[in-house]
Amino acid sequence: MLNYNTTQGLFFGGNFWDGRATGMKLQAPDAEQAQGPPVDPLEMGSPDIACIAWKLSQAVYRPLFELVWGADFDINWPSNTEQVCSTPQGAFGTNITPVALSAVDRTKATNIYDHWGQSLSFLERSKDISPFNSKFDWYLKGTAGVTLTADEMAGYKLFNGKGNCNSCHVDGRSTTLTPGQTDTGNTASVEPLFTCHGFANEGLPLNPRISLFYESRADGVGFTPNPDGLRYRDLGLGNFLRSGPQSFPDPNQPEWLSLAPTADGQMQVMTARDVALTPPQCPTTEAGQAANGKPVPYFQKEFFHNGYIKSLKQLVHFYNTRDSVPNPNGNKTYAFAVTSGHCPAGTVERVTCWPQPEVKNNIDMTTGALGLTDTEENQIVAFLETLTDGYNPANPTVSTYKNIDTFTGQCSTTTPGETASNQGNAYLIPTWNLAQFPCATDICGVPPLPTMKIP
Ligand code: HEC
Repeated sequence: MLNYNTTQGLFFGGNFWDGRATGMKLQAPDAEQAQGPPVDPLEMGSPDIACIAWKLSQAVYRPLFELVWGADFDINWPSNTEQVCSTPQGAFGTNITPVALSAVDRTKATNIYDHWGQSLSFLERSKDISPFNSKFDWYLKGTAGVTLTADEMAGYKLFNGKGNCNSCHVDGRSTTLTPGQTDTGNTASVEPLFTCHGFANEGLPLNPRISLFYESRADGVGFTPNPDGLRYRDLGLGNFLRSGPQSFPDPNQPEWLSLAPTADGQMQVMTARDVALTPPQCPTTEAGQAANGKPVPYFQKEFFHNGYIKSLKQLVHFYNTRDSVPNPNGNKTYAFAVTSGHCPAGTVERVTCWPQPEVKNNIDMTTGALGLTDTEENQIVAFLETLTDGYNPANPTVSTYKNIDTFTGQCSTTTPGETASNQGNAYLIPTWNLAQFPCATDICGVPPLPTMKIP
């Protein structure tokens, strides 16, 4: 459940990057997260939550649903239900209950929608989706024959030590920040989640490739996904606490609203588990050359809340070199007061140039100038790659993750000169002039205002 810890002065729990699936109703944030996409006009666009109940009532697996939740489909559906439910939500303006139901039937439909959300939560928690059988888990258990390589082990130590990663991505071990310090205790948790479920602003630059910025005109049914257009800014948790656009209403007014300025720019701490999970035919997230010199087919993922980071190497490099304090990489400064696509000549974006953060408020300073060498960055990447579920100690080359072989798309192929460091740079586009399109008033002009101006 999303909650405010008064002694820490921080929010914990909830789901979605901005925490808006609080879990208050179903006592399960993931169930409430699952309920979002079907009725989100930007996603599946069902116009009414009752449509989920209607579609379930027509589904071949309805008997299975009734087996779990009881036969509660006795609803008097209006004759136009199918037609209403196949019309996108945007066509109904602010009316979120276009399926005309009696009060009793509306309650039944809502209960089905809730049970459906809970069913998805059960699936997500099941061994099918969350088996907790990565190489790291087998290692933690002390399984015979499973040892971390020298680089993976070094990365594990950096994750808990110099990198300070486990202060947020908690792994059941101590944080050992002093050089030479080792954690000699036993692991406190056998299935560490690698998240504290908290929130932080890591200072990601605005990503001008996000299509939402350009969806400022009405579609065929008169719906405008993002009326703020280029003036949209993502304040994360702070936006949710102000009940801002693209979020849900803040259920805990006025207490939480007053905390919004402390949460601007904060996003939920993701788990570090399964960040390197890929389909078998594209065995890695990282562009590069194999030992035989051949370009490696890779699976292009989008890391962090806005997908600005394209590889795990870049992700660790960002934590390592984001800030403009002297760093070990030749005492150079990689932080520039520019936006993406405008890095100064002689620098390479995401390698030797980090554009300014989208939201400068509340930037977390736990990381940003870690003093890791290039090799140490790679070792942390190697450790992150041990967190992929489906590791079979008897045959490490074949994943046991359920349905891992169902991807039918194409892998990306490393192009000449491409490495995990500059991966994706061929697709950079220049960001528009932020001063010309400053943050919209329905985001940045809602009291209590952000502590500093969002450009
Ligand atoms: C102060 C808390 C904090 C610390 C310390 C921290 N992280 Fe994170 N981590 C976050 C947050 C918050 C996010 C999501 C940020 C976002 O998307 O804007 C995240 C996301 C991630 C992700 C998931 C990205 C994705 O798209 O799934 C990985 C992997 C990760 N961090 C690794 C690391 C590593 C490695 C370190 C240490 C070098 C580290 N983190 C240190 C808070 C932290």
